Amino acid sequence: MNKNVRKKIESLVPYKVSMENYRWALNANESPINMFSDWQEEILAELTKESINLYPSSNCDGLRVMLAKINQCSPENIVCGNGSDEIIKMITEVFVDQGDKVIIPTPTFSEYFTSVTVAGGEIVPVKTKADFTFDVEAIIQAANQNQVKLIFLCVPNNPTGLALSDCEISRIIDATEAVIAIDEAYFEFYGKTSAPIALKNQRVIVLRTLSKAYGVAGIRLGYALANPKTIDLIQRVRMPYNISALTQAVARVALRNADQIASITQSMIEERKRIINQLRSYNLEIFDSQTNFILYRSDKYEELLSTFENSRIGVRVYPKDPMLVNCIRISLGTKEANDAVIAVFKEVYNHV
Ligand SMILES: Cc1ncc(COP(=O)(O)O)c(C=O)c1O
Repeated sequence: MNKNVRKKIESLVPYKVSMENYRWALNANESPINMFSDWQEEILAELTKESINLYPSSNCDGLRVMLAKINQCSPENIVCGNGSDEIIKMITEVFVDQGDKVIIPTPTFSEYFTSVTVAGGEIVPVKTKADFTFDVEAIIQAANQNQVKLIFLCVPNNPTGLALSDCEISRIIDATEAVIAIDEAYFEFYGKTSAPIALKNQRVIVLRTLSKAYGVAGIRLGYALANPKTIDLIQRVRMPYNISALTQAVARVALRNADQIASITQSMIEERKRIINQLRSYNLEIFDSQTNFILYRSDKYEELLSTFENSRIGVRVYPKDPMLVNCIRISLGTKEANDAVIAVFKEVYNHV
């Protein structure tokens, strides 16, 4: 290792995603539908308005107006990021100094750990209960005992699919003094939001993305919703021109087609119910998902994995996480892909 490297960086592992040639890649919670064919003309028209010899709108002005309308707030309540990954990084840069403590309920999304580690912060992990519901009182206690600066809450949570109730979120906000970053990457599949609280309370930030329900993970667009004073803090660490002109153009098209996205999301939610109903009678733990993926725990884990592999279906597993032993996370796909997933369970469990 280069002797000049920071100690904290030595412990990190580069983020790797399996890009195997799957028939159905159900390992990254992406949308199974490529909207490009539907939106091609609109995208080209929108791209034509951009001058690619010039820098793009630095603060995504047109896009923030559209996002404000959708979220019933003002553009001053919004900052855009290169995916919500960048929002996570910016929030950490704003609030976490060397040695500052940050609560991350576990298991959850890995980028919170990476961003806090890079910032030199100290992670205070708080385990969820055995059924993966959040341990609200343990979070509050850990926050107050450790003078925690920031708490990440993933609602609904990746990879468990479970959410915190509005009451539980309010309780954490009221009983602590930390900044609460509420990651709503899967909001559209759940329907409940803490956005109204974030717009008022300077300690609360809601994170959103166009990578999941909106189906445009490839363009990389996320955003934060918060009080203008909090947004102003995030703006101080944002790179100028962090969102490319191409991303801004495609994102505007995606937002203009919000009704189409809402109807696709509704059919995904129906598919989620259908899969769970089909597999309910199996001797298998299925966690009650509010997202576009389902987490399963099975004592036939190895057999399932090899059958998924033989069927060329990509799924996500967590071999290094003791809380997620025998767990497999599978994104919702097209009806055909979901049928293929059900067929794998049928084969392994010998159901006719
Ligand atoms: C909870 C959560 N937050 C954020 C992200 C990152 O999303 P984006 O594509 O907007 O960077 C993901 C991606 O899987 C996620 O699961």
